[in-house]
Amino acid sequence: KKVVLAYSGGLDTSAIVPWLKENYGCEVVAFVADVGQGEEELVGVEEKALASGASECHIVDLKEQLVSDYIYPTLQTGAVYEGTYLLGTSMARPIIAKAQVEVARKVGADALSHGCTGKGNDQVRFESCFSALAPDLQVIAPWREWELSSRESLLDYLAQRQIPCSASATKIYSRDANIWHISHEGGELEDPWNQPSDQVWTLTTSPEQAPDKAEYVSLLVEQGQVVGVNGERYSPYQCLVKLNNIAAAHGVGRIDIVENRLVGMKSRGCYETPGGTVIMAALQAIDELVLDKSSRKWKETLSSEFSHLVYDGRWFTPLKDSILAAAQALTVDASGEVVLKLYKGHVTAVQKQSINSLYSEDFATFGEDDVYDQSHAEGFIRLFSLSSRIAALNKQKS
Ligand code: ARG
Ligand code: SIN
Repeated sequence: KKVVLAYSGGLDTSAIVPWLKENYGCEVVAFVADVGQGEEELVGVEEKALASGASECHIVDLKEQLVSDYIYPTLQTGAVYEGTYLLGTSMARPIIAKAQVEVARKVGADALSHGCTGKGNDQVRFESCFSALAPDLQVIAPWREWELSSRESLLDYLAQRQIPCSASATKIYSRDANIWHISHEGGELEDPWNQPSDQVWTLTTSPEQAPDKAEYVSLLVEQGQVVGVNGERYSPYQCLVKLNNIAAAHGVGRIDIVENRLVGMKSRGCYETPGGTVIMAALQAIDELVLDKSSRKWKETLSSEFSHLVYDGRWFTPLKDSILAAAQALTVDASGEVVLKLYKGHVTAVQKQSINSLYSEDFATFGEDDVYDQSHAEGFIRLFSLSSRIAALNKQKS
């Protein structure tokens, strides 16, 4: 029997390797997804996996594909979960699950395993993707089975088996990082009355310490994709890397929310999405110029639906294709240039233009014009509010 484990090199998945071998009598193949979580988590990860007892370790670079095939399509829908969360962890799960299944097929595995707890969203996301892509493979979720419930017990478990592990007994936060964001949960954050301490944030400068001088960044947008930064063209991935650096220095992209998990409970999370916050602001600015009122309203519906779809891990479904097709139709004209001002935690689109802009100074001006006949508005308003008039007249009569 062979299991492919989504392995991170952290304490939990290090303990899962021997646990699977002992409890399922299987060979364990480690699978590491490089989604841009950073070098610290990746250097030496293969040695670590083998030292824990994995028979092989497959590291797969998913960074570019995450941005082009998961993040950008999601951005085209404008999805934001519960008004604030830019879905950083959620968007990465389907691509990780898919690559994990591919490794399982390559090595001829019979099962898949992950290190998610039984209390969170991630277990649902991974396993929903597994269901859609590999219904024949068994899923093993050690956190829902074992009795190792604290970091101490996990460290003991490894020590008893003489498996080296550099993890400390006192890790405060549960974090998840990729090229789009990093999430922080746990520790003092579990009480929403506690302000996050300075140790929570790892990507962004605090707004207080950010430069006193604003920085302007210009983005080139083509059909809902950022394709250039400050006059140079880059791949979507490279644009994101550049913007992460610029925005992080100005403290842009921190959020702190209490969200509804899919499994029913509320949880408190602090997330950092520096470049993503700037990209969202730029795409929003272009939408302001090119989408008419009813298209924007429709897009709000798509955004809301898609935010739940992504959050709930329902990526490999017909609904995903359907919403994305609708959203893509709305991005045909979403091209132009936006200049954003970054200053102490804030980003504001201060200049925007598009060849597809529906904005017309000739029509909108408060000054004199000869294109818009204000007397036309009277009849429009009479008919637009006719039902209210009829109802009010009825009331007066009775
Ligand atoms: N609450 C966020 C979400 O559900 C972040 C989850 C972070 N995951 C983790 N394994 N640390 O998307
Ligand atoms: C976990 O419980 O494994 C992380 C948090 C989440 O999935 O929501």
